[in-house]
Amino acid sequence: GVSVATLLRDTGLVTVDPGFMNTASCESSITYIDGDAGILRYRGYPIEQLAENSTFLEVAYLLIHGELPTQDQLTALNNRVARHMHVHEGIKTFLGAFPRDAHPMAVLSGAISALSTFYPESVGRSPEQIELATVLLLAKSATVIAYLQRRAGGGDLIEPRRGGHYVDEFMRIAFSPESGEIEIDPAVRRAVDLLLILHGDHEQNCSTSTVRIVGSSHANIYASVAAGVGALSGPLHGGANEAALRMFDQIKESGDTIEQFVAKVKDKAEGARLMGFGHRVYKSYDPRGAVVKKTADKLLTQLGGSDETFQMAQRLEEIALSDDYFIERKLYPNVDFYTGLLYSAMGFPTAMFTPLFALGRMPGWIAHYREMLNDPRTKIGRPRQIYTGEVERDYVSLEDR
Ligand code: ACO
Repeated sequence: GVSVATLLRDTGLVTVDPGFMNTASCESSITYIDGDAGILRYRGYPIEQLAENSTFLEVAYLLIHGELPTQDQLTALNNRVARHMHVHEGIKTFLGAFPRDAHPMAVLSGAISALSTFYPESVGRSPEQIELATVLLLAKSATVIAYLQRRAGGGDLIEPRRGGHYVDEFMRIAFSPESGEIEIDPAVRRAVDLLLILHGDHEQNCSTSTVRIVGSSHANIYASVAAGVGALSGPLHGGANEAALRMFDQIKESGDTIEQFVAKVKDKAEGARLMGFGHRVYKSYDPRGAVVKKTADKLLTQLGGSDETFQMAQRLEEIALSDDYFIERKLYPNVDFYTGLLYSAMGFPTAMFTPLFALGRMPGWIAHYREMLNDPRTKIGRPRQIYTGEVERDYVSLEDR
């Protein structure tokens, strides 16, 4: 009756695997990745088909519930989310308490954690509470992120409309002037939907693993997702979209040619990496990057984005992909290499890129938290270590040191 894991533990054997290169923490049926072949599927559906045909909330439903919604199910989700997009006055006060130039990821993490205090009826592990928290997280994180955008631009907050289309509402709250309303360009709506879909889930990445490990202590879903936002903020993870655009700007300012910049990266002299390049799992190409690149050209023309930066990015990619350093290490553009160009063309400042990633990743975090909650084999996450410190020594009094 004793599990294999328990028997192994009793042998005292411990595996060391920094960065969990080869260690699975769970079984999951949400997202399938074949890194060598460049394949990404949500619940079996290829990312390319979802990106082409679907909308973000439809994909959110798929990730969370395992099946594509029927029209009725999708309408019900759209309506529920739309009804909950307004946020408590206390959240607005909270958002207003930070300096205007505060990094939005810091504020977002705090605001998501704080949602549990404003909506206590959704806090808990019952199916009803988790269902409500799912809707509230999808709805209110969109409004919070749109408000962060407004505050960065110096605008007062405007109220969400009940019943609006998710992406339209998000963009309207983010960008409308206080008097009057912006018309959402269908090309922009499509681009936002597409980018959110591409970020929807990516199995056990750093932020999702964080959500799971925090949730494994039975911390509530808001605390777990807030921790995921913290993990996502790092430049080696979600922060790479921001870092990539800053990198393009730095190259322009430095006066270096692209070849000179690539040479510096290869030297590892200043610790520079080619941001938006490389991936732990993808070793042939990142299929999300391929979709973004395919649409970036068209959309940037439609949106009037920076052609110069796009051309520079393409040139950088071309040079890197024909260079032995990158070929040997199997380094390819990842999803973050081109996304910043699109966000920027839509009018988002660089600091908002990673919060937009967080909005897209929300259904993934929620789906994993729920999957973990419903898996009877879930145990509290608690890695082992190999202790390398002093074995034992006697206390030395202060005057004798
Ligand atoms: N530019 C230059 N060299 C790189 C890069 C890069 N972007 N990425 C990896 N390398 C090199 C490393 O220096 C190392 O070289 P070495 O063998 O000579 O020491 C080799 O490639 C392997 O790199 P690791 O750091 O061991 O790879 P790991 O799997 O741990 O890291 C990561 C993956 C973090 C994504 C890395 O490629 C990176 O830092 N990329 C830049 C940041 C980035 O774009 N992150 C976004 C990831 S996608 C996402 O979160 C959505």
